[in-house]
Amino acid sequence: MDGVSLIKDLQQMRDDGHLSDALLRKAVRSISEEDRFDWVGVYLLRDDELWLHNYVGEPTEHAKIPVGTGVCGRAVAERTNLNIEDVSKEENYLACSPDVQSELVVLIRAGEDIFGQIDLDSETKAAFTEDDEIALIGVADKLAEQLAAERREAN
Ligand code: SME
Repeated sequence: MDGVSLIKDLQQMRDDGHLSDALLRKAVRSISEEDRFDWVGVYLLRDDELWLHNYVGEPTEHAKIPVGTGVCGRAVAERTNLNIEDVSKEENYLACSPDVQSELVVLIRAGEDIFGQIDLDSETKAAFTEDDEIALIGVADKLAEQLAAERREAN
């Protein structure tokens, strides 16, 4: 995936006055164009639950995930990105589809504030590289800039 070009597009959207809702949808749509990524979604953190904002891929029953539950909830509880090479070895895992083999969660955060996460599934084991994670951190940081700006305005 071309993270640099996506980050530029997201910044352009910000400059043009688009809100986080549009940026989150654009990010998911663009990231999902990569063939290795079979499911791509964004969850937003509200209190102590992750709420599914938008996704591309098969429908999931996990529209809300408590912090600490599953790979998604654990990433927030541990305040870290998680690259799970083989989900069948995870005890704390919520299956989205039986075909999923690996998962990458990248937090959308600004300093100490966690706004949510980008969640990716693949039907191939160990599908996600360090370069994927680095590119997605850049995208997540840009999304966090907009979410932080909106939070400041609301307060
Ligand atoms: N696998 C995730 C749940 C989200 S679905 O994959 C879309 C987890 O273990 O938290």
